Amino acid sequence: MPQSFFDIKIRRPALAEQYLAALRGQPGRPLSVFAPRQVGKTSFLLDDLSPLAKENRFLVVYCDVWLCRDRPFEAINHALEEEIARLTVPRTALGKTAKQEVKKISVMGNSIELGESPSDRDLPLDPGLRFDSLIRRIHREQGRPILLLLDEFQALAESDSKLGLSVVSALRAALQTHKEAVFAVFTGSSQGDLAAMFTQARAPMYQFAQQMDFPHLGSEWPAALQAHFRAIHQGREPSLVDLDRLFSAVDYRPGILRDIVVLMSAEGLTDVDVGLEAFSRRQETVAGFKQSFGSLRLFDRAMVRVLAEGLKPMSDEAQARLASLLPANAQPSKGKARLAVERLKAQHVLLRDSPDYRFADSLFRDFVLKQHSADLL
Ligand SMILES: Nc1ncnc2c1ncn2[C@@H]1O[C@H](COP(=O)(O)OP(=O)(O)OP(=O)(O)O)[C@@H](O)[C@H]1O
Ligand SMILES: [Mg+2]
Repeated sequence: MPQSFFDIKIRRPALAEQYLAALRGQPGRPLSVFAPRQVGKTSFLLDDLSPLAKENRFLVVYCDVWLCRDRPFEAINHALEEEIARLTVPRTALGKTAKQEVKKISVMGNSIELGESPSDRDLPLDPGLRFDSLIRRIHREQGRPILLLLDEFQALAESDSKLGLSVVSALRAALQTHKEAVFAVFTGSSQGDLAAMFTQARAPMYQFAQQMDFPHLGSEWPAALQAHFRAIHQGREPSLVDLDRLFSAVDYRPGILRDIVVLMSAEGLTDVDVGLEAFSRRQETVAGFKQSFGSLRLFDRAMVRVLAEGLKPMSDEAQARLASLLPANAQPSKGKARLAVERLKAQHVLLRDSPDYRFADSLFRDFVLKQHSADLL
């Protein structure tokens, strides 16, 4: 039995196999995986795809592009160089790799550790060329393919677009030149942003990439939580039908479902509606929603309310409702409404790639709807 709800993980070996087969089936064509926030993309890359690829002799490099968005190539190169060092530095009798001197560089408050790699002197300094050399070297010396897992890839489009373009071009060149040596998976939460970047780069990689589905976890997740609940509470449990409904109500975000079930377990609740209500009223939840809401501009807050009420943003009804919410000196127009929707997508309040203005977080929508509209603005 798992120790706690937090130890339960649903493995997705079939999906990982499918991804690996897609990569191998079309060398040179990266996979692109776009799915809403918090549905488990990173967990899948790290806990399912990466181990399977390693079993298949891939050398796997994971990079959270958002974290290193100012120097993405340096971070990828560094990870590759570390792998070279790990594979070539002789192991001591204790089985530990020899310690390398490490220097720390702070990037946007996050310190990235850059080791002095044994191969440094022979490699070009230009990050794009260096990347290319590293791939050649690893392939020549190890005879193993490299799998790059580039998480939050759209961060490149969001930050410095010139840098983004140069990275995309170099990646594309590398993927095409070394088809058998390097494979890549991009993940992110906006297909639209990435498409725009690739179009600008005139890099056909976007069309060239294989778009992969990332299905949300199914009933096995609520069922696993239910089983643990039952084990703790001597047979009392929320029903599976209700838990499935709850999973859908929280947009299939496994972490949120788990947090609600943890709360229900702590309070001995088996009614999921009561559980959801308690979760939504929790101080942390409310504070988080208030903070998200408060960080929006006045017009966008009004727009969020209007959308939560189910109106179409560009409709006449929405314009009338916006006018009733906003002060006289901030009257709406359709142009302003369009811009507000764009901003709300950029801020992940609305799903970016959905044509029907869906909220990324249904609980946030419900929160906004429950407030008195007079208190909102
Ligand atoms: N297969 C799984 N089994 C159990 N819990 C999971 C699973 N996948 C994800 N989770 C949980 O869901 C939460 C979100 O997962 P993760 O960070 O992987 O999502 P994400 O899609 O990468 O999110 P983001 O869009 O914020 O990057 C985490 O708390 C994680 O523990
Ligand atoms: Mg993630």
